[in-house]
Amino acid sequence: MLDLMVVGGGGREHALIRALKKNPRVGTVYVLPGNGGIAADGQCVPVAATDIDGIVEFARTHRVDFAVVAPDDPLVLGAVDRLEELGIPCFGPRANAAMIEGSKVFAKNLMKKYGIPTAAYAVFDALEPALEYLKTAPLPSVIKADGLALGKGVIIAQTRDEAEAAVRAMMEDKIFGQSGSRVVIEEFLTGPEVSVLAFTDGQTLVPMVSSMDHKRAGDGDTGPNTGGMGTIAPNPFYTDAMAKVCMDTIFLPTIRAMEAEGRPFRGCLYFGLMLTPQGPKVIEYNCRFGDPETQVVLPLLESDLLTVMQAVAAGTLDRTPVKFRAGAACCVVIASKGYPKKYESGFEIVLPPPEPDREIYVAGAKRTEDGRLVSAGGRVLGVTAVADTLEQAVKAAYAYADQVEFSNGFFRRDIGQRALSVLK
Ligand code: AMP
Ligand code: GLY
Repeated sequence: MLDLMVVGGGGREHALIRALKKNPRVGTVYVLPGNGGIAADGQCVPVAATDIDGIVEFARTHRVDFAVVAPDDPLVLGAVDRLEELGIPCFGPRANAAMIEGSKVFAKNLMKKYGIPTAAYAVFDALEPALEYLKTAPLPSVIKADGLALGKGVIIAQTRDEAEAAVRAMMEDKIFGQSGSRVVIEEFLTGPEVSVLAFTDGQTLVPMVSSMDHKRAGDGDTGPNTGGMGTIAPNPFYTDAMAKVCMDTIFLPTIRAMEAEGRPFRGCLYFGLMLTPQGPKVIEYNCRFGDPETQVVLPLLESDLLTVMQAVAAGTLDRTPVKFRAGAACCVVIASKGYPKKYESGFEIVLPPPEPDREIYVAGAKRTEDGRLVSAGGRVLGVTAVADTLEQAVKAAYAYADQVEFSNGFFRRDIGQRALSVLK
């Protein structure tokens, strides 16, 4: 039997663990730190995902056979480098490759150097030149903090005043800490957004089924940006022809570029794309599985996840089949009322009984001493359904979400509607 260690503790990790456990050779799955819902599927260990020394020490003393490092911070902090030094096979990029997400400036310069399509941009590490540039920059302007900022480091400024305020907030007031010491100011792109996660061992790249996130808190894409309120897969804007263009102009050039830079990328590379009238362009790279994209992509994976991950770690992805089932998936995120702003935790959650082709992934909850599940976070649950058509998947996900008892929860009612309108 193989004992696994999964680093992270959200809905994405819950989906990873459920998929990994389908392999009969999997023994104990340790989750660092996990959460009260994940505890039903793995052994949660109170070590923070950013505590690299703690993670390495745990893996060493428990002799884990394979490690999956899911979140961006430990990857950027070099968790995989340290685990590999101990001889523990890992799924996830080393720190020098995780830079592709860890620094937006690095990612933009890489794309420029290797001719990978992305929004035009300028980089600033001092306030005055940035303000000067904004006086004549086209509007809207997109302003991004260089470093990791919990997915919130992007401000789309409609006016010059807003743009100036955004740059001052990042560079002067340091609202994102050191992440904002450098900023990227880029051209505003338009078009449908697509998320494509891909397995890559640095040489071979296999895209997973495409997906669509719904980032705004409210129906009809209104309200503030969130970590993601729901997803569907596959994304109907992403046609086979588009997939071919992306493979040739974006995916393969990116892994070749990383190799040429001496930073081979092994793990899950996430392409955040915008299908602009001028063709597909990269909005962002992530060095990891997306959340909540993973919650619709993995339920459609037919191949064994552990086998694919081991092939990525061993560099044998070219010899490993990766298959997805036909059909579609929809994930509806149930969040605490008030999220992404102020919200309360500690409300009891009662989950409906398991059903085939349905999953509830727990993102933010804990167990009380008397064994009740209570909310403990902004995004609390991801309710996924898989079906033969997107319409059926959406309907089933909502029907299942409606069975969840959680008085302080809310969810968008229109996940998948934009995609369905394209299919009609
Ligand atoms: P990110 O935090 O990088 O995922 O960006 C958040 C969101 O901002 C993206 O999903 C896009 O909707 C939007 N965005 C980022 N960059 C641009 C851009 N250059 N043009 C238009 N929208 C953008
Ligand atoms: N869903 C977007 C992300 O994981 O960054």
